[in-house]
Order: sequence, then C-alpha cells, then structure tokens
Amino acid sequence: MNGVSLITGASRGIGRGIALELAKIGCDLVINCASNLPAAERTSADCLAAARAVGKTIRAEVCPANIGISADRLKLIEFARAQFGRLDLLVNNAGIAPEVRADILEATEESFDRLISVNVKGPYFLTQLAARWMIEQGRAGVSPVPFAPKIITITSISAYTASVNRGDYCVAKAALSMLTPLYAARLADHGINVYEIRPGIIATDMTGPVKEKYDRLIAEGLTPIKRWGTPEDVGRAVAAIARDLLPFSTGEVINVDGGFHIRRL
Ligand code: NAI
Repeated sequence: MNGVSLITGASRGIGRGIALELAKIGCDLVINCASNLPAAERTSADCLAAARAVGKTIRAEVCPANIGISADRLKLIEFARAQFGRLDLLVNNAGIAPEVRADILEATEESFDRLISVNVKGPYFLTQLAARWMIEQGRAGVSPVPFAPKIITITSISAYTASVNRGDYCVAKAALSMLTPLYAARLADHGINVYEIRPGIIATDMTGPVKEKYDRLIAEGLTPIKRWGTPEDVGRAVAAIARDLLPFSTGEVINVDGGFHIRRL
C-alpha cells in the first residue's frame, strides 16, 4: 500500500491513466469526476483489477464533484477524509477545453470565465484545502505507512505555446503553472513536495476532434518522438513521483511531451 491518492477528473482520459498506474503500485484511490458516474465506476473497477493483476489489494472510491464549485471541493476533501482518513497525493488533473475553438479576436468572456473557473480556480483552491489537511496530518503523525505527501498539477504545453484559436485555454494553463512554484515554496517546510507535469499531445476524448490535424503535424516532425502520447505516459510519470523517486526535487516541471519543448534549428 502506498497511501491514498485523490485524482480529479479520473473518469476518462489522462486522469484515468493516472489512476490505473497508481493502482498498480498499490495506492488507494479517490476517483473524482464531474458528472459521468458510470465512467468513473468503470475506472474504479479497472483500477481494482489492475492492482489485483500485480498481486495488490486496493480501494478505489468514486466521488462526483465539480472542482469549479467551492462547496464541491470541500465535499471532495471531506469524502477522502471520511473514506480513508488520510491523503498522500493530490493530482490536479481535471481540466476543460473551450467548447468552440474561437479566434482571440472573437472569443467570448463566458468561455474565458468557464475555463478560469475549472482550470485555475478549481485546482488552486482544492490544493489549498488538501495542503491544509496534509499539514494537519503531518502534525498529528500518520502510521503505519510513512507520510511524504505530494501535490501534482497537470498543465499543458499550452502554458507556453500560443494557439490563437483557444487563447482562454492557454492563458488558463499559463496561470495554472504558477501554482506549483507557489505551493512548493510554501509547503517545503512541511515536507510536502509539489510538481507540475506538462503533457504534450495526448490521445484522449479531448483531442479527438483535432486528431487528423495532430496526426499530420506529428508525422511532419512536430515532436522529436514521433507518436501521440498516451494517458499511460502521464500516469507513469505520476507513479514515479508517488513512489518518492524525486525526493530532493520540488517546484519542478516534468515535460511528458515527446520532446515538443525542445527548440530546434
Ligand atoms: P478529458 O476531457 O478526456 O477528461 C477530462 C476529465 O476531467 C474527465 O474525467 C471529466 O469528468 C473531468 N472534469 C472536467 N471538468 C471537471 C470539473 N469541473 N470537475 C471535476 N472534473 C471535471 O481530458 P484529458 O485529455 O484527459 O485532459 C486531462 C487534463 O490534461 C486536463 O487538465 C487537460 O487540460 C490536460 N491536458 C490534456 C492534453 C491532451 O492532449 N489530451 C495535453 C495537455 C494537457
């Protein structure tokens, strides 16, 4: 057993991939989703099976909550507290894309507000709640599993890449990037390490509508590693942190992008 991990937006896509990799290393899980309860229940069942396949027994409990809403964030943390009584890892994964990709000269305030609420305000204040509880746990002493709590936030290459047809998404991810150095600096004295994982182009429902465009760009050499990323690629990076393989790193950005971030000439 590797403590308890809470993953937001784990009903599908990258969050689901993270949950599966954490299950394989024996983490108990809180699986959050916005509204698709059947999909979240499937993730939970698949996590139990993935753990069993490697001889581990875990629990994976589902909690629907909209991370953009204050009362729901509180409900999510209280759910974890009631179910498990401890939290070792928060993964801020849930995020949304704009409903329409609109040129920044046309894009609406409504879309901007929606993205800031879910992609920035949600993780920012959920992290605050989780961090307070982790500090409290550290003071109280948790046994028998060693307590080395961590926070991971999933941002995007959009944090530094300009896509003029979804400026709201880029601005939100750039803002979200600041969460990690802020909380890393604040929480180091409490033994809580904080990381950003920055995925590149990952095959999920979110990127389904632009599949052909990215197929072409990848084939043309957009990324040094010429393939789509997978939820498993991101999940394995999260699992490495959960296993405490980076104990002297905090505030760190880990690119999981096939080398997209490398400037080439
Ligand atoms: P997805 O759309 O397939 O899944 C999103 C998940 O977040 C779902 O489980 C959904 O229920 C949940 N969610 C959405 N709004 C929520 C809310 N208000 N409260 C709670 N849960 C909510 O997306 P995907 O592709 O798996 O993306 C996951 C994260 O990774 C997002 O933050 C996204 O911005 C980021 N990302 C995705 C990339 C990609 O290429 N797919 C690349 C870089 C970053």
